[in-house]
Amino acid sequence: MRIDVITLFPDMVRTVVEHGVVSRAANQGLLELKLWNPRDYTVDKHRTVDDRPYGGGPGMLMKVEPLRACIRDVRQHNPDAKLVYLSPQGKLLQQGLINQAAQQANLILLCGRYEGIDERLIQLEVDEEWSIGDYVISGGELAAMICIDAITRQLPGALGHEDSAQLDSFTNGLLDCPHYTRPEQVEGLKVPQVLLDGHHQQITDWRDKQALGRTWQRRPDLLQQLELDSRQQALLDEFIAETRASRSN
Ligand SMILES: C[S@@+](CC[C@H](N)C(=O)[O-])C[C@H]1O[C@@H](n2cnc3c(N)ncnc32)[C@H](O)[C@@H]1O
Repeated sequence: MRIDVITLFPDMVRTVVEHGVVSRAANQGLLELKLWNPRDYTVDKHRTVDDRPYGGGPGMLMKVEPLRACIRDVRQHNPDAKLVYLSPQGKLLQQGLINQAAQQANLILLCGRYEGIDERLIQLEVDEEWSIGDYVISGGELAAMICIDAITRQLPGALGHEDSAQLDSFTNGLLDCPHYTRPEQVEGLKVPQVLLDGHHQQITDWRDKQALGRTWQRRPDLLQQLELDSRQQALLDEFIAETRASRSN
């Protein structure tokens, strides 16, 4: 997959391909990251990339002409890609959106800075707006890096067995189950016995039950979107009964 990022801080975004899973995927040729800086499209001697907002008020906006020239150049190099503006006003990023994006061959991410970009550029150049959550950060770079990381995890072959996404939260609409590694005891807290006994079906049942139970406890909204099969419903009923019994003891 090819991802082009338009950013005033390319060095910041580049770091996403320098570590871990994303770095491996880039080295394997699964991900190609291209960085474009609107500052390279300025024509004045100060290489100005910001401008004052009409109507006054605090803050600046990204300057229209260099940004638009940059966008047009990127589009020429990557004509089939959807252009996504990272914005707190965009569609909330969820696993489904990430999975869909990972099925595309190309994507362009536009990082805003200052108070953002001119509304007409959104109308003329942007295909979609994505938000990483209901809070405001200083620029789209961190949001773009989150997208790149989350999308890369979904590219076939990007995750080795040890990083498998199969158990990850949201993969099947549920939160992940709890995990344990050595030692068997930490300050008197023991690893659940079932994980030590080596019965694969019992381990699977325990993990599925914990995933269902955690989701019921922490994100009941996710459970409401699922149709549980009879095995899952029985596991969840057991979890609920056990939780209630332990509370009443
Ligand atoms: C300081 S913010 C501008 C926020 C804008 N004035 C608003 O309230 O909608 C600067 C840039 O950071 C990025 N940004 C901030 N919060 C974001 C979020 N929750 N999701 C995605 N991008 C965000 C956007 O690219 C935005 O243009």
